[in-house]
Amino acid sequence: MAMSSTLKLVSIFSIIVSLTITTQCVMALPPPIKAAYWPSWSETFPPSAIDTTLFTHIYYAFLVPSSVTYKFEPSDSTSTLLKNFTTTLHGRNPPAKTLFSIGGGGEGPLLFARIASHKESRKIFITSAIEIARKYGFDGLDLDWEFPQNPKDMANLAKLFQEWRNAIEKEAKSTGRSPLLLTAAVYFSADFRWDEVYRKYPVKSINKNLDWINPMCYDYHGSWNKTVTGAHAALYDPKSNLSTSYGLVSWIRAGVPGSMLVMGLPLYGKTWTLKDPKMNWVGAPAIGLGPGEDGILTFSQIEKFNKENGATVVYDEETVSIYSYVGSIWIGYDDARSTAVKVGFGRALGLRGYFFWALSFDSEWKISRQGKREWFLSTSISFFLCQYDYLKNSSIIEVK
Ligand SMILES: *[C@@H]1O[C@H](CO)[C@@H](O)[C@H](O)[C@H]1NC(C)=O
Ligand SMILES: *[C@@H]1O[C@H](CO)[C@@H](O)[C@H](O)[C@H]1NC(C)=O
Ligand SMILES: *[C@@H]1O[C@H](CO)[C@@H](O)[C@H](O)[C@H]1NC(C)=O
Ligand SMILES: *[C@@H]1O[C@H](CO)[C@@H](O)[C@H](O)[C@H]1NC(C)=O
Repeated sequence: MAMSSTLKLVSIFSIIVSLTITTQCVMALPPPIKAAYWPSWSETFPPSAIDTTLFTHIYYAFLVPSSVTYKFEPSDSTSTLLKNFTTTLHGRNPPAKTLFSIGGGGEGPLLFARIASHKESRKIFITSAIEIARKYGFDGLDLDWEFPQNPKDMANLAKLFQEWRNAIEKEAKSTGRSPLLLTAAVYFSADFRWDEVYRKYPVKSINKNLDWINPMCYDYHGSWNKTVTGAHAALYDPKSNLSTSYGLVSWIRAGVPGSMLVMGLPLYGKTWTLKDPKMNWVGAPAIGLGPGEDGILTFSQIEKFNKENGATVVYDEETVSIYSYVGSIWIGYDDARSTAVKVGFGRALGLRGYFFWALSFDSEWKISRQGKREWFLSTSISFFLCQYDYLKNSSIIEVK
């Protein structure tokens, strides 16, 4: 009798403890972001082809405001596509959240510099962006300004984010709907010097006004330097600061919490023509670009190229990247294996998640699937560590 009630007590106690731990540890982990940008110009890859089991958020890439009115003025065909995009993705099982991304690498820096520089133009732009988001059923907005060019642009960006957030809050209050998400695609590091001009992102405004940011951890090397091969999305680089580890740590050092950082992962590679086929490593001499427009191939094109040409594929441990070569053609890229290491790195840094550029470049979802798997595995480990931490803190277990 005494025995069994003791046992009961113990088991009730352990249920209560495990419930408390579970709540504590789950609450400590904000829901992860597994995002991807969808290139809206891809005719072979409609929204219905997106596997939403692999992603939480899909970005429509891109919308650009009018350079005259600063408002969004989508054509009839774009309007149809916007509606189709949100309806399709919200209707899937599971549904994915949708954002539209404003700008993009092709747009250049000047239009946004102009919009951000005056209160009136900021207001027109913000009002139109919110209107479009609601009209077409988006869950949020993303600014991809590549890139603010000087400290003045960065100061104006801070104001833009603040006024944008205020407008989003106001709209949500007046309509009773949940506020739109607001994110930004940013340079891989928090500060940088180009053409002798030093600039730093407005971290305070970012932390206060955005839901998260997407550092673009790729394009460290490319067509602007044809004399040397490169791992364009190296996790580590012993010789320079052009690496994902440097960039992400620079954001954390600048004061952006890991919970606001969503790491960029490329689904494409960069190609060069080797000077000497026998010198085929990362950083080897080159004499020009290789196949692909501007020396760029998607991951699925690279797989096809490697297979058709019998290329040698190498995992480079130093940079955590893949390269392949055949004859004098050399390609630097990421595959499922290097991506898994990067995702594990991001998890260990306490990041919020990852995103891919761009969704339709994967080959049979191999890398997207691996990213999700790796995030889950490393999440399980951190969940375990959190439980362990809790037990230790509450002196339920004693650690010597
Ligand atoms: C989206 O467009 C495709 C192709 O035009 C069409 O088959 C599909 O029914 C549309 N879906 C929605 C939800 O409008
Ligand atoms: C290309 O990169 C190499 C190695 O980093 C460097 O020495 C060279 O100056 C660069 N060339 C150009 C044109 O930037
Ligand atoms: C890398 O960045 C650090 C500051 O974060 C700087 O001190 C160092 O000089 C940089 N190294 C190179 C090779 O640019
Ligand atoms: C355990 O204690 C540390 C230090 O006080 C604290 O940072 C951490 O959040 C606690 N962990 C849990 C799960 O309560």
